[in-house]
Amino acid sequence: MGMEKKRVLSGMQASGRLHLGNLLGALENWRKLQDEYDCFYFIADWHALSTSYEDTHEIKDNVFNIAIDWLAAGIDPEKSTVFLQSLIPEHAVLHLLLSMITPVPWLERNPTYKEKMQEVKDRDLTTYGFLGYPVLQAADIIIYKANYVPVGIDQLPHLEVTREIVRRFHFIYKKNVFVEPEPLISEVPKLPGLDNRKMSKSYGNAIFLSDSPEAVTRKVRTMITDPQRVKKTDTGNPEICSVFTFHKIFSSAAEVSQVYAGCTTAGIGCTDCKLMMARNLNDYLKPISEKRKELLGNPGMIYDILQEGSKKAQSIARQTLSEVNEAMGLYRAVP
Ligand code: TRP
Ligand code: SF4
Repeated sequence: MGMEKKRVLSGMQASGRLHLGNLLGALENWRKLQDEYDCFYFIADWHALSTSYEDTHEIKDNVFNIAIDWLAAGIDPEKSTVFLQSLIPEHAVLHLLLSMITPVPWLERNPTYKEKMQEVKDRDLTTYGFLGYPVLQAADIIIYKANYVPVGIDQLPHLEVTREIVRRFHFIYKKNVFVEPEPLISEVPKLPGLDNRKMSKSYGNAIFLSDSPEAVTRKVRTMITDPQRVKKTDTGNPEICSVFTFHKIFSSAAEVSQVYAGCTTAGIGCTDCKLMMARNLNDYLKPISEKRKELLGNPGMIYDILQEGSKKAQSIARQTLSEVNEAMGLYRAVP
């Protein structure tokens, strides 16, 4: 008898184009997981509403572009189920049912929630939906009985809420319908943005997968280097320079040593160092950009992939929801 593959599920909020940080921090890992696991990857467009409910005009475009970025980066709909959250209303039904048993203090003490409430000043986040963000995320995960959830460290508190909700459900209804999911944290080098802070769309310091090679080079030229290195004759410290961090990821070992030696002896100037890195980065991105261009010429196919994947996901979601109704003492729908 063949061993059933364990299930992996992850999602990304539909709030913008994807950048290098998303590629290295998530997508590369997702791509590798496809061979070993039964993978479900979805675009969380409802979660995007939790902060952008007043201005929704970009959400559809974001969904489309994220799908293209995923496929271009090697997420393969033949191997994985790729779908769109809002096409599967069962997530919302489960969210409602879970909201009945989730204590509000669990949500109020969530560090991501507290941080965002303090940070975000340009819009009102005192909504029910924003507080309930982790409950919707829990529904997304457990409706597929996922074993593993590849996420960044920042998402760990959300996953902990998911696990607590699962335990509470099982305790209250005395029926183990769900699987308690475990995080899969990948060991990835943290990628700085152009200004040395963490790469993030909202900081305006990101290199996007959809940037042209010229745009990439232009952005790399603006990267902050070792601030002590003012003139070309000053020696530099590569260990504190983001350009060097990028070299370590995108350049050959020989080039990395060459840059290290050149920087510490003032044998190479920052502009040459950057141009060398930009070339390697563009080589790395080339297959992705080419695939992107090809996919852009076939938008119908993108919608078809999302529709197909959502259909497949929905049949599982329906089944779980029926088990949930039964456990909670409700009627189940006749299939
Ligand atoms: N919160 C995740 C993010 O910010 C998106 C997300 C929604 C998610 N539902 C999920 C991630 C379920 C993993 C599993 O990108
Ligand atoms: Fe950074 Fe390269 Fe300049 Fe050294 S030479 S400070 S590694 S950009």
